[in-house]
Amino acid sequence: MIILGIETSCDETAAAVVDNGTAILSSVVSSQIEIHSRYGGVVPELASRKHIEAIVTVVREAIKTSGIEPGRVDAIAVTRGPGLIGCLLVGFSYAKAYAFGLGIPWTGVNHLEGHILSVFLEPDPPPFPFISLLASGGHTGIYFVTSHTSMELLGQTRDDAAGEAFDKVAKMLGLGYPGGSIIGKLAEKGDPGKINFPRTYLDKSGFDFSFSGIKTSVSRFIQTHSDKYKEMIPDIVAGFQESVVDVLSYKLLLAAKEKRCKHISIVGGVAANQRLREKVKKDAGLSGIKVHIPSSSLCGDNAAMIAAAGYYNLINGGMQDLSLDVFSRAL
Ligand code: KG4
Ligand code: ZN
Repeated sequence: MIILGIETSCDETAAAVVDNGTAILSSVVSSQIEIHSRYGGVVPELASRKHIEAIVTVVREAIKTSGIEPGRVDAIAVTRGPGLIGCLLVGFSYAKAYAFGLGIPWTGVNHLEGHILSVFLEPDPPPFPFISLLASGGHTGIYFVTSHTSMELLGQTRDDAAGEAFDKVAKMLGLGYPGGSIIGKLAEKGDPGKINFPRTYLDKSGFDFSFSGIKTSVSRFIQTHSDKYKEMIPDIVAGFQESVVDVLSYKLLLAAKEKRCKHISIVGGVAANQRLREKVKKDAGLSGIKVHIPSSSLCGDNAAMIAAAGYYNLINGGMQDLSLDVFSRAL
């Protein structure tokens, strides 16, 4: 089944062609970073307008580079939510019209399920059941995944998402947007043990997170070292990153132990973080647990993961009619 995936939930206009939910024939991601970086974050109205400008070209490019004839598309999968409503509506309406025009089935995909299923686009995906840590700019949660269509949320952030904390700390330090990848690179030059920021575990036996405290600690550190913090930026970001990574890895492995899973995954934009990848692999290795992490291009928002999730929706009877609508917050 050849599926055209479309993703417009935030600031990336993306389209991909995926065969049987596993083989990526093409994946095109058009980022709006340049437009939003001057505002230090995504401006929703600007983002939806940019999606309108980009969508036709991005889909055409995805079809062209896949090497298939446009008429070979068997079904469409499109992000339904969560995300920015105006942005979601662009991809959603386009996908409905495209499917209607070709007379083919289509399905609306939960963006978070797309991230979780991104590991199935890589060789050697995890067997069920497994534990997945989804850490992105909008969400951070731990899931018990028992099939391609059933994922139980075990715990999630009570305030900021992990990626959001990276972005906010980068903004405080004047490092630019989006902060995650900038901090990841700068942290390599710093000493993670020099400044010991607190780790917020909340209940150490539970799976909820909180990242607003660490953000406040960094802010306080900047205030109390206002004359010399600029020279300490690599150590500050390395210390901050280490604190976030420690908590994420701890809770992920705790969930694996509690659910007796020998396979875990990390997905979402923050899964591109090198230190997180290393730390989780090291901690998991000590417990004989295998870690599955998508390549960096599949961690950030993309449409291949939406096509993959759409494939599993469709083969499980999830075809949808044109009355379906988008949603902004996690269902
Ligand atoms: O999954 P994603 O592309 O979009 C959402 O669904 O939110 O995640 C974007 C988030 C941003 O907050 C970004 O700063 C973060 O992922 N991110 C990273 C890295 N690359 C992207 N965070 C830490 N380290 C990275 N290397
Ligand atoms: Zn995402």
